[in-house]
Amino acid sequence: MRIGSFELKDRVFAAPMAGVTDRPFRRLCRRLGAAYAVSEMVASDPRVRASGKTSRRLDHDGEPAPVVVQLVGADPAVLADAARYNVDRGAQIIDLNMGCPARKVWPVTLKYRTGWDPADRNAVRIARMAESAGVQMLTLHGRTRACGFKGQAEYDTIARVKQAVRIPVVANGDVDSPQKARFVFETTGADAIMVGRAAQGRPWIFREIDQYLRTGSVHPAPTVLEVRGLLQEHLEEHYGFYGEALGVRTARKHIIWYTRRLRGGARFCERMNRLERCEEQHRALDEFLQDAGERDDRLQYEDGSIESLAALEREGDAGDCDTIAACEPC
Ligand SMILES: Cc1cc2nc3c(=O)[nH]c(=O)nc-3n(C[C@H](O)[C@H](O)[C@H](O)COP(=O)(O)O)c2cc1C
Repeated sequence: MRIGSFELKDRVFAAPMAGVTDRPFRRLCRRLGAAYAVSEMVASDPRVRASGKTSRRLDHDGEPAPVVVQLVGADPAVLADAARYNVDRGAQIIDLNMGCPARKVWPVTLKYRTGWDPADRNAVRIARMAESAGVQMLTLHGRTRACGFKGQAEYDTIARVKQAVRIPVVANGDVDSPQKARFVFETTGADAIMVGRAAQGRPWIFREIDQYLRTGSVHPAPTVLEVRGLLQEHLEEHYGFYGEALGVRTARKHIIWYTRRLRGGARFCERMNRLERCEEQHRALDEFLQDAGERDDRLQYEDGSIESLAALEREGDAGDCDTIAACEPC
C-alpha cells in the first residue's frame, strides 16, 4: 500500500492515542509488527510549542519511517505552518483531524469519524471532498462523534467510503483479535486496519494479526520471558524520554495494562501505584514477571482469556481519555 512516496509492506497500523502512543510505545508497536504508527495529536497553535508536552511530541529520535504526526487545529493557515514546522523536525506524513493546510508538499492523510451523530452521517461526502483536495489516505473510526465509544463500530459505513474513493481507506474501531481483523478486512474491503485500545498492554497484537492474515495460523502468546525483556526495554526508553518524576507516573498505566489480568495482578497494581521511583517500579515489575515466569512458560491471563475490548469496557476503561472530544472533532 502506498501513501505518497511511502510504500508500506503491511496492512496493520497503530492508532494515535493521546497519552499512550508516545515515541517509546510507537517504537515498540513498530518492532512488534505495526506497519505504521501515528503520533499522539500535536496542537497546531505555535504558542504551545515550547511546552514540555509538545516538545516531546516533536521528538522522533530512532523512529522508523514513515514518521507520522497527527495535527489538530481549525485554522488552515495555522495548520499549514504547523505541518511545515513538524516536517522540519522529522515528520514525513501529516495526519489531520479534519481541516486542510493550504499547500501540500508532503503527504497529508485524514482521520475522522462517520459523522456528527447517527442522524447525520457524512463520511462518504467528506471522503470525496478530501480525495479531491489531494488527501492521500483516509482513516475512518466507525462511529459518529456523538457515539463516543459506545455501541459497535459501523463497518458498513467504512465499506461505503471504500467504494466511493480511490485513495487508500483504513478501517478503525474495535479490532481486538486476529479473527476480528480478518472480519473487518472482509466486511469493509479496506486497504488496512488500525488498532488502538487493544494494543494497550498488548503491543504484540500486531504480529498476531499479521501472522493470522498471512497464514491463517494463530501466533502463540508471548513467553513470560519475552514479555519481561520487552517491558524492560519499554520502561528504560520511557524513563529516558520523560525523566524520573514524570516517567514513573506515566509508566503506571502501561504497567497496569500489561499486568492486571495476570495472576496476582490486581494486588501488584495497587502496590505499583504507591512506588515513586523508576528504579523501584522497574524492579517490582521484574520480580512480578519472574514469579509469573516460574509458574507459566507463556503469558496467561487469570481468566484464561486474552485481553479483549469487552473486558476493558466492563472496567469502564475504554476511551477513558478527556482529550478524545478534542482530538476527534469530526
Ligand atoms: C486514550 C485514547 C486516546 C486517543 N487519542 C487520539 C488522538 O490523539 N487522535 C485521534 O485521532 N484519535 C485518538 N483516539 C482514537 C483512536 O485513535 C481510535 O480511533 C479509537 O480508539 C478506536 O479504535 P479502537 O477501537 O481500536 O480503540 C484515542 C483513543 C483513546 C482510547
